[in-house]
Amino acid sequence: MNIKEYLGEMKTLIDNTLDRYIPADTVYPPDIYKSIRYSLFAGGKRLRPILVIASAETVGGNREDVLPFACAIEMIHTYTLIHDDLPALDNDDLRRGKPTNHKEFGEAIAILAGDALLTMAFQIMSEPSAFSLKSSTLILKSIHEIAKAVGVSGTIGGQVVDIQATGKKLDIPTLEYIHTHKTGEMILSAVRVGAILSGCEDDELHALTCYGENIGLAFQVMDDILDVEGESEIMGKTRGSDEKMRKVTYPSVFGLSESKKIASRLIENSIQSMEMFGERGEILKDISEYIIARRF
Ligand code: IPE
Ligand code: IPE
Ligand code: MG
Ligand code: MG
Ligand code: MG
Repeated sequence: MNIKEYLGEMKTLIDNTLDRYIPADTVYPPDIYKSIRYSLFAGGKRLRPILVIASAETVGGNREDVLPFACAIEMIHTYTLIHDDLPALDNDDLRRGKPTNHKEFGEAIAILAGDALLTMAFQIMSEPSAFSLKSSTLILKSIHEIAKAVGVSGTIGGQVVDIQATGKKLDIPTLEYIHTHKTGEMILSAVRVGAILSGCEDDELHALTCYGENIGLAFQVMDDILDVEGESEIMGKTRGSDEKMRKVTYPSVFGLSESKKIASRLIENSIQSMEMFGERGEILKDISEYIIARRF
């Protein structure tokens, strides 16, 4: 199966499963479900849940077993987008090709929809019916891993420094801190958790960690590059948002051409770290290539 088919098939699987997890917007109180569904089904790439599944399959696991975690990570990711767009953070009007959640539903419901998605993710991952003696340790380990990746030691820490750095001159380690934390850690956790839940070996987890660190940073460097030279209509978000908000980004510090070289180098490193998997590593390697070639 080529990568385009794989990504399409996984996206459909994830969309259908998410649809089953989220109550209909006729359930009381309907506005919160409308708001959650509005952002969750606005057409994201589903990269993080696809990474959970691809990583599981790389180490011989199966997609059904990791699907709840894949969907949970997409819920957490969508919450971070809703909150990231709020006036107090990036103040953006367009997301996934539609007005941002707070533009459509108001700030109070947008904040609560984010809170709801984050909480629901942990409810799904800790679903008692999924626990068995064999899997409970791996499930707990995975939940802990995700909590760390999206908490202050990950996404939130990165977002705090991102906000505080706005309009300032930054040293390179701080720029790297922002990017690896606000974006990299969650992507890394998606890769690791897919493998952990599938009972991978230590050396496999070590290689996948190296892969995840490299694509995690590369993904945000590419996001910065697309903010400069992407097309708003294709991206579904407004080009030039970073410059307008005076964000410190890779292009603003290194320039566009050097930023592209940095992204390419990170992608090459990620591909190299997949060597031990041979043929089994093809999908994750293709996902790396996709990250650098993407236009949205
Ligand atoms: C956007 O993530 C936020 C970043 C971390 C750069 P994606 O580019 O994966 O957004 P969706 O999920 O496809 O909308
Ligand atoms: C994404 O950073 C970090 C998040 C935690 C959502 P950006 O602020 O660059 O993401 P976009 O460009 O708004 O998607
Ligand atoms: Mg931001
Ligand atoms: Mg933003
Ligand atoms: Mg951006």
